[in-house]
Amino acid sequence: MRWFKNTTMMSGLLCLMLFFAGAAQAADAEEAELGSEDKACQSCHDSDDIKAKVTQAGESISMRISTQAFLASMHNETSCTDCHEDADGKDHGKVPVPMKSKRDYRLSFQDSCTTCHKKDVAEFKDSVHAILLSEGSDKAPTCSDCHNSHTLRSVKLVEPIANVPCATCHEDIFKAYSGDVHGLERVAKGKSAPLCADCHKSHAIQAASLGDGIRDSCLNCHKDTAVQHEVWLPNSKLHFQSVECQVCHAPNAQRRVNLRMVDSAGGKQLMEKKGVPQFERLATAADGTSRGFDEKEMKNFLKAFNLENPDNKAILSGRLELRSGLEAHQLSTKEEALKDCAVCHQAGAVPFSSVVLTMAGPDGRSLRQGVEKEVLTSATSLGSLRGFYAIGSTRIKLLDYLLVLVILGVLCVPIAHMSVNRMFKARRDKLQAERQQASTK
Ligand code: HEC
Ligand code: HEC
Ligand code: HEC
Ligand code: HEC
Ligand code: HEC
Ligand code: HEC
Ligand code: HEC
Ligand code: HEC
Ligand code: HEC
Repeated sequence: MRWFKNTTMMSGLLCLMLFFAGAAQAADAEEAELGSEDKACQSCHDSDDIKAKVTQAGESISMRISTQAFLASMHNETSCTDCHEDADGKDHGKVPVPMKSKRDYRLSFQDSCTTCHKKDVAEFKDSVHAILLSEGSDKAPTCSDCHNSHTLRSVKLVEPIANVPCATCHEDIFKAYSGDVHGLERVAKGKSAPLCADCHKSHAIQAASLGDGIRDSCLNCHKDTAVQHEVWLPNSKLHFQSVECQVCHAPNAQRRVNLRMVDSAGGKQLMEKKGVPQFERLATAADGTSRGFDEKEMKNFLKAFNLENPDNKAILSGRLELRSGLEAHQLSTKEEALKDCAVCHQAGAVPFSSVVLTMAGPDGRSLRQGVEKEVLTSATSLGSLRGFYAIGSTRIKLLDYLLVLVILGVLCVPIAHMSVNRMFKARRDKLQAERQQASTK
């Protein structure tokens, strides 16, 4: 009884405390008011008289700052002069100061966020956007392209998808995304389905084709994916390494084989050093016909490349991907996903008829060279490919026969799954041993 009394009293007290805390906070919000210095700024900047400023590039920029929106923003506790130190001079607003362009003005603030947002600035630093900025791109986003300092609301608020900052510049992708399985789910249910930053990150955005970051973000939300696929797809983990998710989940898209140049020691994607163009030079030199590499040209290219880079020699790592990055944003429901093994596992399979060789450029985006499809089954590339699936190669003959059986329905799915796994276990082990041997050489 005493215990009960005590706890009720305690919780009563707690409720009371919470109530006061809540009330105090509400009062804070109501009383959010400009400091006197800021009021002085707003006497001009929130008045009907303030005129738009015309830049030297001819753009007109409104100088009107809404006090109401500013007070409702996450920056309501910062002062105008925290970001505009130079604006409280005597001549300010009286003597016009020339402004080159909107873009130029925006860029001048790029460092000013650092004082208060070190973490975000640091994350942004190595992103594809930041690299483009440092190279002088006039299109890559600055902090202010994605965040309006005067009106920004908490990023936790669920906004309509059209407000996502990425939509302004990546309009086509946004359109595709809005109609796909995630976009529709997001509109229907709010926050659970991914928006751009959930797959690409918000600040540390990398080139889409670099590494496996995007796939890993898929797996982060769809945690049971490997188990669910294993039921019908033998060795799903290997498929996930060699077949990008969207290759099956954007069922109408066109596919191709991407031979990525990776470090022969660590398997990491090779990236061209800034200011040392190598890929294009060597590829142009090797591609005699300009019709894409044939077997011999590919061999010469790899030889020349490895001569220049004795410390990180290149081998190739094959992966099925989509031909257009746009189509990666047209994912559909699981019922429509590609389940037919024959699309990939038969002689002359269409996805294997288009082949590119790529190396990551200095900003991470791919440098590309066309390759004739025969190269996939040639002796040279088999050596440097380390066992990527290639139709017609000996490794896969067995698989092709087996798959014919699967396709004919001779084996029912669970048995096929078991026997495929068993049959390939031995081969896999052997391959693994070979690979290990090769990499220790
Ligand atoms: C957290 C930083 C920050 C605070 C606080 C801030 N600003 Fe700004 N302001 C900026 C940035 C960044 C730009 C450039 C924005 C752009 O290019 O769109 C800017 C631009 C402006 C402009 C040019 C017009 C425009 O929108 O580009 C005016 C005028 C201005 N600010 C006035 C103010 C006033 C008045 C206050 C206080 C009520 C204030 N600012 C508070 C960061 C800030
Ligand atoms: C007397 C009215 C007045 C006051 C007070 C005033 N401004 Fe301005 N402000 C202007 C006018 C007019 C312009 C446009 C000037 C131009 O065309 O060059 C301007 C331009 C700006 C710009 C755009 C960049 C630039 O330099 O052209 C910023 C940022 C800005 N003001 C911030 C502030 C801040 C912060 C305060 C308070 C500390 C403030 N202003 C106080 C009138 C005023
Ligand atoms: C390409 C667009 C883009 C650019 C450029 C960008 N941001 Fe962001 N930022 C976002 C998005 C999207 C979110 C929301 C992430 C989320 O919902 O988890 C965000 C979140 C934030 C947050 C709040 C949450 C957090 O993660 O800390 C801050 C602060 C922030 N950004 C500051 C900055 C600064 C400073 C810069 C410049 C170095 C910058 N942003 C550049 C898109 C961008
Ligand atoms: C004087 C310090 C200061 C400066 C400079 C500043 N901010 Fe902020 N910013 C804050 C504070 C304080 C908050 C409130 C939320 C918090 O604690 O993160 C905030 C919040 C934000 C948020 C929302 C975070 C969220 O959790 O929703 C974004 C986005 C943001 N700032 C972007 C910027 C950008 C972009 C710049 C540079 C143009 C900038 N800030 C400059 C102090 C600053
Ligand atoms: C479900 C995850 C996911 C979401 C959500 C998503 N993307 Fe992507 N995005 C991808 C994948 C996968 C690729 C292709 C990767 C590759 O090339 O290997 C890609 C590629 C891209 C590319 C490169 C396109 C090209 O031509 O190579 C851009 C730019 C991009 N996305 C922007 C966006 C924007 C903007 C949004 C939001 C409207 C968005 N993405 C939403 C997964 C996503
Ligand atoms: C101010 C314009 C702008 C905004 C806003 C913007 N981007 Fe970009 N982005 C670019 C430009 C320019 C490039 C380089 C050209 C290209 O690939 O389209 C780029 C490149 C990319 C790439 C690499 C493309 C590749 O080929 O691999 C990705 C991924 C990307 N952006 C995602 C995003 C995401 C996600 C957002 C929102 C959080 C966003 N971008 C917001 C302008 C922008
Ligand atoms: C070889 C083609 C293929 C690949 C590669 C593939 N999927 Fe699938 N996926 C399918 C098919 C087919 C289904 C529908 C299975 C069924 O009929 O139940 C499916 C189902 C799904 C489902 C729904 C799961 C359920 O049962 O509710 C998700 C989520 C999914 N896949 C995500 C992924 C992700 C993430 C990846 C990459 C890591 C991926 N898939 C790679 C073909 C593929
Ligand atoms: C932020 C979490 C998140 C990320 C990241 C994410 N998804 Fe999803 N995905 C969802 C949600 C939520 C749904 C809708 C509910 C469901 O069916 O699971 C969904 C639905 C799907 C479906 C349809 C499933 C069905 O039942 O028809 C597929 C296929 C799918 N996602 C594949 C992917 C792929 C491929 C990626 C990476 C390129 C990815 N997802 C990234 C959360 C995510
Ligand atoms: C989108 C194309 C695609 C589809 C659809 C597909 N596969 Fe594969 N599969 C591949 C690729 C690519 C590899 C090669 C992986 C490697 O060696 O790197 C592979 C490898 C395999 C392997 C060899 C695994 C090993 O241990 O070496 C088996 C078995 C297999 N697939 C069975 C199937 C079956 C059964 C189906 C249908 C249920 C199927 N695959 C559907 C592309 C596909």
